[in-house]
Amino acid sequence: MNPLQLFDTESSTFTYLLFTPGQPDAILIDPVARHWERDLQQLDRLGLQLAFVLETHVHADHVTSAGKLCGITGAKSAAPTGCGVGPADMQLNDGDQIAFADGEKICVIHTPGHTAGSMSYVWRDNVFTGDTLLIDGCGRTDFQSGSADALYTSVTTRLFSLPDDTRVWPAHDYKGRSASTIGWEKIHNARLAQSSRNDFIALMDSLHLPRPKLLEIAVTANQNLGLPHNA
Ligand code: FE2
Repeated sequence: MNPLQLFDTESSTFTYLLFTPGQPDAILIDPVARHWERDLQQLDRLGLQLAFVLETHVHADHVTSAGKLCGITGAKSAAPTGCGVGPADMQLNDGDQIAFADGEKICVIHTPGHTAGSMSYVWRDNVFTGDTLLIDGCGRTDFQSGSADALYTSVTTRLFSLPDDTRVWPAHDYKGRSASTIGWEKIHNARLAQSSRNDFIALMDSLHLPRPKLLEIAVTANQNLGLPHNA
């Protein structure tokens, strides 16, 4: 069962719509503010009702539509407990399970490193990795309490312990790719495959990436589910 993958060309962010045929309940992961109408249209087109909106972490490069979509649909918002999203209906912890539709469940895995609170979500043979594991790469670790050491542990001990045929659905891709697998990333990931912990930390320390343009605006907004702070 594949999720429906949606894309934001401004921030190269993927949003995922999870559902199973014949069941009305749906879940959105990492929706983007400017696409809230598109996402509602997708739900309508497929005859779905939004049950939960999940965030993999507090994003620094775009604003979420979680609060708006939950307000319109009555869905519950869920965010990692370590991300400071106070208004979320559910604070997610490692090992939590989110039940939806008829017997479907999402397993929550704490995968810190890109941010301290980052979570990955496993659904059937899919894993939604946020910015922890990208296709042939990984998210930056130089702000939002990021840690290259923690990311190395998260990927090598948590994500790489999933079955090799688990499909990897990242939060971003900048080169036109869509999905990968755990098995492929274990062998080929340019930063993490067959790399020692020390080599990986040195590589991440050497990147010196520019700060995201929306960093302060996006983080503050996303800790309020993308809603104005007086809402
Ligand atoms: Fe991020």
